[in-house]
Amino acid sequence: MAGGAFSVEKGGKEFRGKFTGYVLLSCILAASGGLMFGYDVGISGGVTSMDDFLGKFFPVVLAKKRRATATESSYCKYDNQGLQAFTSSLYIAGLVATFAASFVTRRFGRKPSMLTAGVFFLVGVVFNAAAMNLAMLIIGRIMLGCGVGFANQAVPLYLSEIAPTRFRGGLNILFQLNVTIGILFANLVNYGTQRIHPWGWRLSLGLAGIPASLLAVGSLLLCETANSLIERGHLERGKAVLKKIRGTDDVDEEFEEMVEVSRIAKEIKHPFRNIIKREHRPQLVIAISLQVFQQFTGINAIMFYAPVLFQTLGFKNDASLYSAVITGAVNVLSTVVSILSVDKFGRRALLLEAGFQMFIPQVLIAILLATGLHGGKQLSHPSAIIVVLMICLFVSGFAWSWGPLGWLIPSEIFPLEIRSAGQSITVCSNLFFTFVIAQSFLSMLCHFKYGIFLFFAGFVVIMTIFVYFLVPETKGIPIEEMVFVWRKHWLWKRFVPASDAKDVILEVAAKHPDPDKDQQFNGIKHQNGLPQSY
Ligand code: BGC
Repeated sequence: MAGGAFSVEKGGKEFRGKFTGYVLLSCILAASGGLMFGYDVGISGGVTSMDDFLGKFFPVVLAKKRRATATESSYCKYDNQGLQAFTSSLYIAGLVATFAASFVTRRFGRKPSMLTAGVFFLVGVVFNAAAMNLAMLIIGRIMLGCGVGFANQAVPLYLSEIAPTRFRGGLNILFQLNVTIGILFANLVNYGTQRIHPWGWRLSLGLAGIPASLLAVGSLLLCETANSLIERGHLERGKAVLKKIRGTDDVDEEFEEMVEVSRIAKEIKHPFRNIIKREHRPQLVIAISLQVFQQFTGINAIMFYAPVLFQTLGFKNDASLYSAVITGAVNVLSTVVSILSVDKFGRRALLLEAGFQMFIPQVLIAILLATGLHGGKQLSHPSAIIVVLMICLFVSGFAWSWGPLGWLIPSEIFPLEIRSAGQSITVCSNLFFTFVIAQSFLSMLCHFKYGIFLFFAGFVVIMTIFVYFLVPETKGIPIEEMVFVWRKHWLWKRFVPASDAKDVILEVAAKHPDPDKDQQFNGIKHQNGLPQSY
C-alpha cells in the first residue's frame, strides 16, 4: 500500500494524501512504544518466579517458596510487599509522569516527549539489568514507568496526528496489538532465560533495551507533527511538514482546517475545568469506569503474575513459564480478532459477549481450586490443564473486548475541545488501577485464596450490567455526531442539553447531506466558532 494515493476523509471532508514512508515509519514507532509497554507488563512475572532473582533480592520469598508445596498454604508463598512494589512501582511512576508528559507534549512538541520516553526507558533498562540491590531494581522500574508515562501520552497522539484519518481507528488498536506482542515476547524471553544461571533474569530485563533504543532513535529520525508545529505558531514549518508526510503539495485545505482547529482549541483555556461540567458527565463517567472495570476484570493478575500464579497452582518452573507463553499467544491472536470484528459487530456486542466468556472460566477456576487444593491436596494433572484452558478462554474474551475497547471508546467519545484532557484522564485512571492490582494481587491471593477468582467474577457481572445499561453503541458514528448518541440515551440525555447551537447545526447537517447545504452549514459552523470538521 505504501506510496499509493487515496482520498482520506476528515470530518466529512476528503483530502488527497498518500500512505508515505513517514506514515510507515510512524507505524514502526507505534510498534516500539507499544512493545516497550507490553514488554514491561509481561517481564516482571517470569522474573519474579526465577529462583536466582528471588535469592538475590527477595531471599525471604525464596525460603517461603521452598518450604511451601502446592497445597493450600502455597497461596501465600509470594505474598510480599517488596515483590509487589517491584511490579507496581512502574505504574505509579507512569501515572505521575503522564502529567509532566502532557505539559511537554503541548509546550515543546511530540518529538521531545517521545525522545524523553526513549531515554527514560534506556536508563531504566541499564539500572535493572545491572541491579546489585533492591534500590537499583526499584529505581530502574521507576525510570521505566516514567518512560511509559511519556510514551503512552505522546505516541498515540503522534500517530493519530501523522496518520491519514482513515487509519486512525486501526492504529489505535494496532497500538494495543503491539502491547500484547510485547507481553508475549517477554514471556518467550523468560522461558529461554530461566535456564541461564545465575544471570538469566538480567538478560530478561536487559533485552527491553531493543524496543527502548528503537523508540529513542526513531524519535530522533522522525519529524514533528504539523498539528504541533501549528499549535506552537510555526505555520510555515507546519505546512512544509504536511506536504512531506502527505506526499503532495495539495494540502491547503487540510492545513487551513488544522489552523482553525488549533485556534478553537486555544480558546479553551481550562480544558480540565471544562471536562467536569455536567454536560460532559457521560463521557467522563464512561471513560473512567472503563479503566476501573478493565483492570478489575483481573487481567493483569494474569499478565503480571501468570508464572507465579501457575507455580502457586503446583506447576514446575518450566511448565509455568510455558503456560504463560500460551496465554500470551492467545492474547495476541484474540486482539487480532478484535481488530477484524470491532467495526462489524460493534463495541457493545463484544463487551457483552466477553462478559459471559470471562465470568464462566473464573467461576470454574474458583471451584477447581476450592476442591482441588483443599486439605493439603495437590491440584491433579487434569484439573491443572483445565485451569490453563479456562485462563486462555478468559484471556481471549478480554483481548477482544475490554483490552482494546477500554482504550478505543474513550478516544472516540470526547468532543474536540476536551479530547486531550479526556485522554490524560483516561491514561491516568488506567495506570492508577493497574497499580492497585499490581500492588495488591499477591496479598489478595493469599487472603482470599480461590475466592480471588470469585471476586473478579463479581466485577465482571457488574461491568457487564454497566455496559448493558450505560454504554451506548459508538460503532460507525462520526465523532462530530456523537452528541446524538447521548441525546437519545435513556439516562445520559438528562446531562446533555436538549438543544444548543452546535446541536441544531449537527442535527440539520446530518439530515441533509447535500453539498449546497454543506456550504451553508460550514458558514454557520464558522459563525459559531466551530471547525469545519465539527
Ligand atoms: C491493559 C493492560 C493489560 C493489557 C493486556 C491493556 O489494554 O490496559 O493493563 O496488561 O491490555 O493485554
